[in-house]
Amino acid sequence: MNTQSQSRLPTTHRIVDIKQETDHVQTFTFNTSLGAKPGQFAMVWLPGVDEVPMSIAYDDGKQIRITFFAVGDMTKKLAKSAVGDLVGLRGAFGSNYEWEKGQKLALLAGGYGAAPMYFAAHEAIKDGCDVHVFVGARSKEHLLYLDELSSLKNVTLHVATDDGSQGFKGFNVQDINKVIKGGEKFDQLFACGPERMLVAVSQLSCDHQVPSQLSLERYMKCGYGLCGNCVVDPLGIRLCIDGPVVHNDVCVKITEFGKYHRDGVGRKIAF
Ligand SMILES: Cc1cc2nc3c(=O)[nH]c(=O)nc-3n(C[C@H](O)[C@H](O)[C@H](O)COP(=O)(O)OP(=O)(O)OC[C@H]3O[C@@H](n4cnc5c(N)ncnc54)[C@H](O)[C@@H]3O)c2cc1C
Ligand code: FES
Repeated sequence: MNTQSQSRLPTTHRIVDIKQETDHVQTFTFNTSLGAKPGQFAMVWLPGVDEVPMSIAYDDGKQIRITFFAVGDMTKKLAKSAVGDLVGLRGAFGSNYEWEKGQKLALLAGGYGAAPMYFAAHEAIKDGCDVHVFVGARSKEHLLYLDELSSLKNVTLHVATDDGSQGFKGFNVQDINKVIKGGEKFDQLFACGPERMLVAVSQLSCDHQVPSQLSLERYMKCGYGLCGNCVVDPLGIRLCIDGPVVHNDVCVKITEFGKYHRDGVGRKIAF
């Protein structure tokens, strides 16, 4: 965790750029830094509406970006923002992806997971890593960050769509399974996306004995270990501190992984 620049209180920042990625996905840029590392998240506050966790899609010490789906009350209102509007940010919170210099990494991204994976790829290549990114989506209209990922040197991009409208037909986890069976060897797998995708990556990691780091999402309120809303059964670890990025050897001990999560008042919701 980045304690030096971490702020537990929100500060407001003006949106300096808005990119419409797809019909329901936007990327906002702010002229500030939270000192974030790839995998960490920020609490994003829309005054009078709500505050929700979002992965930091990029932070270069001068600007940060978030990429989000307009799915509910807060994010639909956030999506109506214009350049110049103020948004509250606090963080960076949580654990981050970790690699060693020169490693061969496979990054698996589903949905908005493509944004933090772009950030991870951008940083890992600075350490001489050979990075393969497997981006998956339902169909080609939902693919994110392909141009950004293609522009990175030493990054090999693999695209998968469920309906075969672009790239491999099927899930990105099936695609990498084929690549590994074809003889490619990776030092580590990183994944960010829907929990059913993470379950498949966890299984792949065990089957091929490749260590993995997975980004798990649970309902978050405080973001820094105070409220207990993000604990997972039976370990009792708080995913805002011990996650969201969790090593697979810990993940396999979380019995609720892939089965259920809890809402804002702690009720179990099955996946
Ligand atoms: C670590 C982490 C990183 C995330 N990164 C991103 C991201 O980069 N981009 C993105 O679009 N979304 C991200 N999310 C999910 C995002 O927080 C939810 O989409 C958002 O909270 C929905 O809020 P809403 O009011 O629009 O919708 P609602 O209708 O209130 O909720 C829709 C669903 O979002 C989830 N949700 C709602 N509030 C929270 C909360 N406080 N904490 C966790 N989940 C919640 C619940 O599963 C809920 O069913 C992330 C979540 C976590 C935990
Ligand atoms: S969100 Fe409060 S303890 Fe994790």
